[in-house]
Amino acid sequence: MGEITVSGGKNTSVAVIPATLLCDAPCTIENLPDIDDVHALIEILEHLGARVEYVPGHHLTVDPSGVKSCHVPFPYTNRLRASYYLLGALLGRSGCAEVAYPGGCDIGSRPIDQHLKGFSALGAKIEDRGGVVYAKAEKLQGADIFFDMVTVGGTINVMMAAAKAEGNTVIYNPAKEPHIVDLANFLNSMGAKIKGAGTDVIRIRGQQKLRGTTYTVIPDQIETGTLMIAAAATRGDVTIRGCIPTHMEALTAKLLEMGVRVTQSDDSIRVRPQSEQRAVNVKTQVYPGFPTDLQQPMTALLCMATGTSTVSETIFEQRFKHLDELRRMGAKIKLMDRTVLIEGVRELYGAPVTVTDLRAGAALVVAGLMAKGITEIYETSYIDRGYERIEEKLRSLGADIRREKL
Ligand code: EPZ
Repeated sequence: MGEITVSGGKNTSVAVIPATLLCDAPCTIENLPDIDDVHALIEILEHLGARVEYVPGHHLTVDPSGVKSCHVPFPYTNRLRASYYLLGALLGRSGCAEVAYPGGCDIGSRPIDQHLKGFSALGAKIEDRGGVVYAKAEKLQGADIFFDMVTVGGTINVMMAAAKAEGNTVIYNPAKEPHIVDLANFLNSMGAKIKGAGTDVIRIRGQQKLRGTTYTVIPDQIETGTLMIAAAATRGDVTIRGCIPTHMEALTAKLLEMGVRVTQSDDSIRVRPQSEQRAVNVKTQVYPGFPTDLQQPMTALLCMATGTSTVSETIFEQRFKHLDELRRMGAKIKLMDRTVLIEGVRELYGAPVTVTDLRAGAALVVAGLMAKGITEIYETSYIDRGYERIEEKLRSLGADIRREKL
């Protein structure tokens, strides 16, 4: 019950921070979420020789003029998936990138073949040996690039490199997520010439030099959705402020279909209970479809809907590790290939559960809010990678949730 302001976007921040390397003047970024993925990227920039001033919850200023290295070793890249954005940023900066393979959530094989295909098309020589990607280019040349599948990371990585290539690049079949548009806006504020982000074709006119800028990242689409789902899960009356409702359409439509009352203004969404919550069918799609990052929290919500729901995960083949933990809490769930069959139950019961990946953690928090009794959630560091002080935000809305030292 009450109001909460959403933080800046994780998936936009982890792209914008590496992109500061594309110029040789200070860039200031505002509205960054105070999360571990942001901290990890700041450490990588400092390792490379950038001067950084970071005021958590306020701003980050990066002065990359001192960056001479293009090598990012495994202990740094292993901490997060988005470390692979250093490939596109360093290639665009100096034509040289040596970046160890990324870490990140274990939700599938997550290859980066499309990223490398894009870099090769731009004229980079790519070697992949010993768990490190070596990319080198005298001068990147603009090219036409057609992605075999829609890839957020591939689109972001190629956009960064192409922004500094010689000549024009056209990206066909790009991802259209809000954070793709946000990165394009950030790069354009540095003097890049990018058109069409968020549409089916992105056109980039490479620039020799980019300039420093000050930029505010967009609010987090997935945190907004997680808070909407948590409000529905607890039948609360919650207003989420500082969000962008148009980014939430797919989830809003599903919650309305369930019988949850969702109303919105231009920068806030209000979620209220309306009637019993009916079972629905969900299928994850690329934006603007239902986001794969909300599949797991939505699965938790549907565990107590009236009737049988299905949740089909079309993006990541192994994004189901939360199901065993939900079963411990009494959920009636079956997995058939990549579709979860959920028979709604009247109660979930608190239990000790373990987080296996970031959004599985969000699902377990939602389930814990719904369950009768105490739920103990272990391995919460996954959650802290993508949510800023989630327990404080939920507690301010009346949730009985606290963090304890083991
Ligand atoms: C980004 O991951 C996000 N991560 C993910 O969020 C999000 O789930 C995903 O996009 C989809 O929206 C960050 O932004 C840091 P993809 P990414 O490339 O870039 C396959 C979270 O919870 N593929 O769009 O890795 C891939 O295996 C995280 O915040 C290739 O086969 O996603 C997947 O099946 C989890 N080859 C599909 O495409 C490639 O070269 C979509 O992947 C690239 C991708």
